[in-house]
Amino acid sequence: MKDALGTVQSVLVLGGGSDLALATCRRLAPHANTIVLAARKPETLDAPMHELRALGAQRVEAVAFDATDYGAHDAFVQRVFGEYGDFDVVLLAFGVLGDQSETERDARAARDTIESNFVGAVSVGVPIITRLREQGHGTVVVLSSVAGERARRSNFIYGASKAGLDAFYQGFGDALVGSGVNVMIVRPGFVHTKMTAGLKAAPLATTPDKVAAAIVEGLRSGREVVWVPGVLRWVMSTLRHMPRAVFRRLPL
Ligand SMILES: NC(=O)c1ccc[n+]([C@@H]2O[C@H](COP(=O)([O-])OP(=O)(O)OC[C@H]3O[C@@H](n4cnc5c(N)ncnc54)[C@H](OP(=O)(O)O)[C@@H]3O)[C@@H](O)[C@H]2O)c1
Repeated sequence: MKDALGTVQSVLVLGGGSDLALATCRRLAPHANTIVLAARKPETLDAPMHELRALGAQRVEAVAFDATDYGAHDAFVQRVFGEYGDFDVVLLAFGVLGDQSETERDARAARDTIESNFVGAVSVGVPIITRLREQGHGTVVVLSSVAGERARRSNFIYGASKAGLDAFYQGFGDALVGSGVNVMIVRPGFVHTKMTAGLKAAPLATTPDKVAAAIVEGLRSGREVVWVPGVLRWVMSTLRHMPRAVFRRLPL
């Protein structure tokens, strides 16, 4: 449970190897009692676990989790909450970018992107929020993306998965008002991480630490939506309202 100053003390990360998640955990570690990193290959997380302990986290654990193993999600949530106690923050950080040209032509690849980023987040999100409601407090931090704000020609399948994710968690955030549980949606632009390695950086590209700083500040101030960098809120608002005939001519 958060301390008297509202400091986050316990964190569950789904997609525990994510560069954005680990940057966030580095900022939370000095005050954390418990950090649980849930990942497809928990055995690969020794180095970040050591690092988070060295930064001050008292207990750091890695557990197995696959966002597309839908049938296992209920049992996973019961086990992880049962074993590691209540969580102040659950960070949904798993996701795949997919290859747009492949996903446009291959239904299976398109489905993989939607299933990982959207269906997986719904499937695990429902039991997570049920447990947070039972404990009576907690914030779900969802890594959405500016890509979900308006589908762009160059990455509309990833964008569609993020639009679905974003809408689902916006709705849940509204449904949770008064429950003690809340949702914070994070919409970064291009961030230099494993996911974007080798890609041409987009304008306003940023770093994992800047996203982490915005997440921690958003948690501190109780924000519902966080854009990173903040100016993207206005850029995306302009793009969202642009007539389609103009929008499709932009090199996006
Ligand atoms: N980087 C950006 O520009 C950017 C911008 C906006 C939003 N985001 C979003 O931010 C989140 C984190 O991305 P990142 O930049 O930190 O990329 P990242 O370092 O590649 O992290 C993505 C993580 O998702 C995990 N993952 C993928 N599919 C999974 C599944 N089925 N089950 C469990 N874990 C799975 C990966 O695990 P494995 O190690 O097992 O592959 C990886 O650890 C993603 O949702 C991404 O869409 C990123």
